[in-house]
Amino acid sequence: MIRRVVAIDGAAGSGKSTLARGLALELGVPYINTGLMYRGLTAAALQHGVDPEDEGALVGLLDGMSFTLSRTNPPELEIEGYASAALTTRDVELTVSTVARHPGVRERLRILQRSLGEDGAVMEGRDIATVVFPDASIKLFLVADEGERSARRARERLGYDPTDIAEALRLRDARDARTNPLKAAPGATVIDTGALDIEASLAEALRIVRLAWDEDES
Ligand code: C5P
Repeated sequence: MIRRVVAIDGAAGSGKSTLARGLALELGVPYINTGLMYRGLTAAALQHGVDPEDEGALVGLLDGMSFTLSRTNPPELEIEGYASAALTTRDVELTVSTVARHPGVRERLRILQRSLGEDGAVMEGRDIATVVFPDASIKLFLVADEGERSARRARERLGYDPTDIAEALRLRDARDARTNPLKAAPGATVIDTGALDIEASLAEALRIVRLAWDEDES
């Protein structure tokens, strides 16, 4: 059992990042957003003119990239050479599902994710509890309806057309579902972030973590 890993999975706009960062801060462990790794590789491919269908070239690119943890509180994933604005562009969002489809890419990233999280972390993504850390003691699966997820994304991406945002989200969900079906891991607790606000979601997640970790210690 990997005690200090909290695995959080959910679709785009389900509120994973806010919850995961808040939880990491409370628990005193790093916050690792695995979506940024796929986004970083996508940004690198776009920058270097690498075909997002070319698995071998993508794996080669990945070998030259550096993923580290920042010195902030909580420590967060950093990708050398890529500021966060470069990871949320429209081009990246349109291409990332194609990049994330390749088993070779996923395998490399899985190895990196395990090593970044092995000393404890709150790690968020789409396959964390199912594939990356199936032994995590805490598994949370976030859900929210599509309207709520689009509205949340629109609040995060000010200046973008909300209709475009909703459409891009739908497209990405559909593409991701083809290769990486999003599902709750056995034993995961489902949190509906559409029904709870952020404070209530965080309080609920903290209650679940503390209960499990206290039980482990007793
Ligand atoms: O979490 P976020 O929406 O930023 O992830 C961006 C993309 O990275 C997803 O649409 C998906 O294609 C990919 N991804 C993935 N597995 C993860 C995290 C993200 O395939 N664990």
